[in-house]
Order: sequence, then structure tokens, then C-alpha cells
Amino acid sequence: MCEACNGDGFIINANGEACSCRCVAAFEAAQRRIRARIPKRYASASLDALAAVDSRQEKVIEAARAYCRSFTRSTDRGFLLYGPAGTGKTLIVAAVANNLLDRGVEVRFWNFRDLMAEERAWYNAPLGERTCTSPIQDARRCAVLVLDDILCEAQGNDFTRTAFEVLINARYEDMLPLLATTNVAKRLNGQEYWPVAFGDRVSSRLHEMCEIASTIGITDQRLPR
Ligand SMILES: Nc1ncnc2c1ncn2[C@@H]1O[C@H](COP(=O)(O)OP(=O)(O)OP(=O)(O)O)[C@@H](O)[C@H]1O
Ligand SMILES: [Mg+2]
Ligand SMILES: [Zn+2]
Repeated sequence: MCEACNGDGFIINANGEACSCRCVAAFEAAQRRIRARIPKRYASASLDALAAVDSRQEKVIEAARAYCRSFTRSTDRGFLLYGPAGTGKTLIVAAVANNLLDRGVEVRFWNFRDLMAEERAWYNAPLGERTCTSPIQDARRCAVLVLDDILCEAQGNDFTRTAFEVLINARYEDMLPLLATTNVAKRLNGQEYWPVAFGDRVSSRLHEMCEIASTIGITDQRLPR
């Protein structure tokens, strides 16, 4: 029980006015964190506390910090990390998401594969057992969407391809920010690597929607050193 308000949710200030108790804001912040569903491993990721494993990762973390500094509630800019396994992509993007959550922004974290599986389950469920909106209908409207581990087109099927194109196009048209990670990249014009997750039409939109940084060259932190 809150000692300041005895659970009433409001207090009477020195001027005799009723105002919201600080425990209400704390409760709302906790609820916001639960709704965001950031996986346990990354739930306490923090850009302030994060020490880079090498100079390449330092640059990526700096780009993530710059993104957070420039973030406003009206921004359409997202942040996308691509690169090999174990290089800190999910950790850094989760740290960005935590920063935004602390600032009162509604965030939804989805693993790409899980989102597609739950969308399909929703689609196949009998009408009476469905929630009002499907996972993808939720994901297309939330203030900030995290899509972790976007696969390449070849790993998907017609259902995932269509669902994903609809999702990205809806957020693109509504100018809503996306935080994302992917392993899928190829050399463009024989020069630099670029993320090409899910084909040219989606990739084209992702490039316009997101600040993009690469974790190529950082060592896999999961392997023994
Ligand atoms: N700077 C760091 N400090 C502490 N732990 C780190 C750091 N960078 C990465 N790690 C840890 O290394 C592991 C791999 O990081 P992460 O899961 O973010 O990789 P990833 O790039 O998303 O890999 P994948 O493509 O396989 O999903 C995690 O346990 C993460 O916490
Ligand atoms: Mg990851
Ligand atoms: Zn209180």
C-alpha cells in the first residue's frame, strides 16, 4: 500500500487541491513495461549502462544513443540494426526500447517469427475465440514497434510475406517508427552491405523509415573466447 496516498491514488497538496499521487505514475510505468513484452534477457538493457565489447560496437551504441536523443513523439524515424548472430543487435535495440518506455512511450516488442505464428493462429481460430484485433493489427498501430530478427523472404511463405508487407506498408504510410534487427544483408553495387530482409519492396521502405547501422565485424558474444 502506498504510504503517501493510502492507495487512494491522489493526495491533497498544501493548497488544498487534489492531485495524482506519484504511485499512479509508477504503476502506469510498470503496466507500460508489461505491455511492451520485452524478453527477460533484455528487459533491463540500458544504453547508459552498456559498455561496448569493441570499437565497432561502441559506434553502434553511439548511433543508438544519438537516435534516442533525437527521438520525439512525433518522429517517423526508426532504427534498424543488421549483422551476424551474437553481435548485440537485440540487446542494443532493447536498450533503445527501454529508454523510450522510461519516457512514457508505448512500445511493443515482437520477435518476427512469433508475430507471424501468432497472427496465423489468430487467423485460424474460430471467430468466437478471437481477440478483437489480430497481433498484426495491434502491431501496425502501436506508437513504437520493435521487430526482432526479421527473416529473409525465402524463409517465409505467402502468408508471412503478405502479412509483413501489409504491416510495413501501414506503418510507412502512417509514418510510425520501427525498431528492428535482421541477419539478412547483401552487397549493394558490390560495395557496402545493406539489409535486404524480405525482398526489395519491404527493404526499400525500411531504408527510408530507419536510421541503419551494421554490427558486421563484431565478434559473436555467445561463443567462448
Ligand atoms: N556490450 C555488451 N555487454 C554485455 N553483453 C553483451 C554486449 N553485447 C552483446 N552482449 C550479449 O551477447 C549476447 C548476444 O547478443 P544479442 O542477443 O543482442 O545478439 P544478436 O546480434 O541479436 O544475435 P542474433 O542475430 O543471433 O539474434 C547476449 O547475451 C547479449 O546480452
Ligand atoms: Mg537477436
Ligand atoms: Zn500513492
